[in-house]
Amino acid sequence: MTVIEAGPPGKIRIAPSILAADFGNLGRAVEEIDAESDWLHVDVMDGHFVPNVSLGPPVVASLRRYSKKFFDCHLMMSEPGRYLEAFKKSGANGCTVHVEVGGTASLIRDARALGLRVGLAANPDTPFEAVAPYLGDVDLLLLMTVFPGFGGQSFIVDVMDKVEQARYEVEKSALALDIEVDGGIDVSTAPRAVRAGANVLVAGSAIFGQPDPFAAAKALRAAAYEGRQ
Ligand code: DX5
Ligand code: ZN
Repeated sequence: MTVIEAGPPGKIRIAPSILAADFGNLGRAVEEIDAESDWLHVDVMDGHFVPNVSLGPPVVASLRRYSKKFFDCHLMMSEPGRYLEAFKKSGANGCTVHVEVGGTASLIRDARALGLRVGLAANPDTPFEAVAPYLGDVDLLLLMTVFPGFGGQSFIVDVMDKVEQARYEVEKSALALDIEVDGGIDVSTAPRAVRAGANVLVAGSAIFGQPDPFAAAKALRAAAYEGRQ
């Protein structure tokens, strides 16, 4: 069995979000951008934590046949703990749970026990203090740059203060932590997010919503590196 690694924390990574892809042709959509994607971002919505419903473990299992990339599953769910094992079994490599749903310490423990890489997410209006106690226990911090639930929304620039705070803590305490941003990321917002300290960029519309998703992913990567300079 191939072991799929996330790669070293802190490296610039492009994580296309399949939410913006054609759900009738997901396998092909994923193959098409494979060489320009580091991770594949899989948005799971339960119709409760967010108003929308998207996909679940069977879709992850099917996609596994089309990609050997790290599957970064973003669980926008009120009860993610009930599904962690199913996601792991279907081929998820990392699962990110929202701090707003509570029970964070035990969710982190359960995900870890299953052998998942663990992420913690915060909505745009959730203060940094809510995630701060867990930074040493997770592999990834996802700072939402839109309110979760839908693709194609505008980047909330105010979240950059929180990204800066997170990057400061990571450097100060030498944490092995990725800082991911998700929502409204495109060639114009990516450099700003990277400058603030983000290193994993999720993008749906800016990749799958474009006529040439492969070229769009390449352009996004170039824009991200601009922010590093
Ligand atoms: C929003 C999702 C995002 C979404 C981003 O709830 O978590 O991952 O796909 O879409 P864009 O890049 O279109 O803002
Ligand atoms: Zn997402």
